[in-house]
Amino acid sequence: MTDAAEVGALGYIGIGVGSLDAWADFAHVLGLMPGPDGPDGSTRYRMDEQAWRIALHPSGEEDCLYLGFDCGHAAGFEAVLARVAAAGWPVERDSALAATRGVMELARLVDPDGVPLELFYGPRIMPEVPFHSPQPIGHFMTGAGGLGHVIVNAADPAKALDFYTRVLGMALSDRIMFEAAPGVVIPLLFLHCNQRHHTIAIAPKMPGAKRVHHLMLEVPGMDEVGRALDRVTAAGMEIAATLGRHSNDRMISFYVRSPSGFEVEYGCEGLAVDRATWTVTDHAAISVWGHRRERI
Ligand SMILES: [Fe+2]
Repeated sequence: MTDAAEVGALGYIGIGVGSLDAWADFAHVLGLMPGPDGPDGSTRYRMDEQAWRIALHPSGEEDCLYLGFDCGHAAGFEAVLARVAAAGWPVERDSALAATRGVMELARLVDPDGVPLELFYGPRIMPEVPFHSPQPIGHFMTGAGGLGHVIVNAADPAKALDFYTRVLGMALSDRIMFEAAPGVVIPLLFLHCNQRHHTIAIAPKMPGAKRVHHLMLEVPGMDEVGRALDRVTAAGMEIAATLGRHSNDRMISFYVRSPSGFEVEYGCEGLAVDRATWTVTDHAAISVWGHRRERI
C-alpha cells in the first residue's frame, strides 16, 4: 500500500440484523470464525488475523450500517482525508469511534446514497489467536485485497461513480450492461482500489432495495466453494443464484440469501487487477455460464 491518496481495501463491514441467532447459523455455514464482541454490543466475526471483519448489530435494519476502508497507515489516511476535503466532501475525524472499532485512527463520511463510510488505518490483529474456520477452509482470500466486495444500490449511479472515483480514488475496472429482461438493460459499474477486480460495484437502485445488493467473500478454490454450496443446501438456505462464472472478474461463485435479505456471494478464482496496465472493458453478459436466478 502506498502513500497514494486512495482508499486501500474494504477492511470491515457493519450490518444491522434482526436475528443474531439466524446470523450465527449463517456465519457458521459460511465458515466465519467468532471473534471478540465489540464494546458497542456487536457480535463480530473473523476471516483472518484481523480481530474482526464483519460486525453484527442487533438493531434490526437488516442492511449494511457502515463500510470501513483501510488506508494502510497514517500517511495514507492523511492523504485520503486531504483528497476528500479537497473534493469538498464533508468528513469528520472520530477518535471515540476509532476506539470502538479497534483501529488507530478513523474518520467518518457518508456516500451519496447515505451509506456511512469509515476511513481508517491500524486495525487490531490477533496473531496470538490464530484464525481457525469452523469449516474446512484454510483461509479466506483477504490480505491487501481486503475482506471482499460489496455491490451498492445507487439512486444516481453517475453520482456514486464520481464519489467513489474522484473523492475516494477508486478506478473503473469495467462495466456490464446487464439485460435483466428483454429491452431492460441495467448498467453495472465495477471499481477497484487494490488488486481485487472490484471492491465496490454500483447498481441502479430499484424501489425498496437495500443499501447493498450483496457482499462477496472469497475462498481459495473450487472445493471450498463446492463444500459451502453443499452446506448451504443442506441447511435449507435460499440459493439466490446458482453456481456460475462471472464474465468480468471470472469468479466462480454462487449466491445465498442472508438472514437480512441481501445476498452473500461465495466464490473463488477472482481476477487480479494491475492498475498500471489495466484497460477498461465493457460486457453485455453478467456470466460466462450459470448464475441462474429467479429474481434480481
Ligand atoms: Fe459480486
